[in-house]
Amino acid sequence: MAKPILISGIQPSGKLHLGNYLGALKNFVSLQNSGRYQCFFFIADLHSLTEESTPKEKAKQIMELVADYLAVGLDPKKSTIFLQSSVPAHSELAWILNTITPMGELKRMTQFKDKGGEAETTNVGLFDYPVLMAADILLYDSQVVPVGDDQLQHLELARTLARKFNSKFGKTFVEPKPLLTEIPRVMSLDAPDKKMSKSRPGGCVFLDDSPEEIKEKVKRAVTDSESVIRYDAKNKPAISNLMRLYGALSGDLMPDLEKKFQNMNYSELKLGLANTIANYFAPFRAKKAALRKQPKIIEKVLKAGNAKAQKIAAKKIEVVKKKIGVAK
Ligand code: AMP
Ligand code: TRP
Repeated sequence: MAKPILISGIQPSGKLHLGNYLGALKNFVSLQNSGRYQCFFFIADLHSLTEESTPKEKAKQIMELVADYLAVGLDPKKSTIFLQSSVPAHSELAWILNTITPMGELKRMTQFKDKGGEAETTNVGLFDYPVLMAADILLYDSQVVPVGDDQLQHLELARTLARKFNSKFGKTFVEPKPLLTEIPRVMSLDAPDKKMSKSRPGGCVFLDDSPEEIKEKVKRAVTDSESVIRYDAKNKPAISNLMRLYGALSGDLMPDLEKKFQNMNYSELKLGLANTIANYFAPFRAKKAALRKQPKIIEKVLKAGNAKAQKIAAKKIEVVKKKIGVAK
């Protein structure tokens, strides 16, 4: 039996942080290596056009994100790695899905509201963003979509649109399911009640950060009152966030971490965490530095991945067009 199809994408819009890694990318790699899925990982460059950048910056961000994918362990021999904009069917299907999407569904989206919502100057792409995301997913008959929890609402729309299209035009799309990691929402180092996000760079540890930068940022992380190191997400959100990060990278369970730091203070925990992060990402930094010097490798990976994705997507969009009566 064919393996279930898995898809996910990330926008090329800046450096990846620990939230992206622990909420999504780390899972991409283990799911790929499990051998249980046919994996597709793409660069969501069309989505990223909703945020201001120059063409030069955009081209660089795309190359950087492919290098990130490869440096964390995505393997073009095992997964199809491609660029969203190189497969026209993503945009075509997004348009078709637009015609069955109620405005109300999109107006309710938290991300849309957070990013400007209905201000007169907000670009329409931000409003339509979840429909393009649904197209990305449905085009490949994806069953599984690994994402962080901020994407769950968008995924729900993909499920709704699949159902709606199927009931209107006959069974065409698969309803995709989200797949979360054990930390689907990493909190910001400078505000443990907000998710880690590149819009708050002070609260991010970026995967590219040097050991010195990591130490500096972790040192500045906010803490809670009461100096004991104890996992208690409700009453000690800041320390619990640091402990979760530590555990996710070291493999320690929370009771073991509590024991390890029993008689220590917050700065010792921070130092331990900074070292853990720095060591964990040492191979990543080395691999990425090497890839930066070999842009040809990146181009080759995309070229092969784009061709594979194009073949599948082109077939599917033809089926869709026939169903709705615009193609023979
Ligand atoms: P983005 O940078 O918004 O394209 O996000 C890429 C992936 O990282 C998506 O699957 C997000 O859900 C995930 N992600 C982003 N921020 C966080 C966070 N703070 N915690 C967990 N996952 C996150
Ligand atoms: N919206 C996602 C994010 O910001 C990126 C994305 C675009 C995506 N299309 C997708 C993720 C399809 C999963 C599946 O993180």
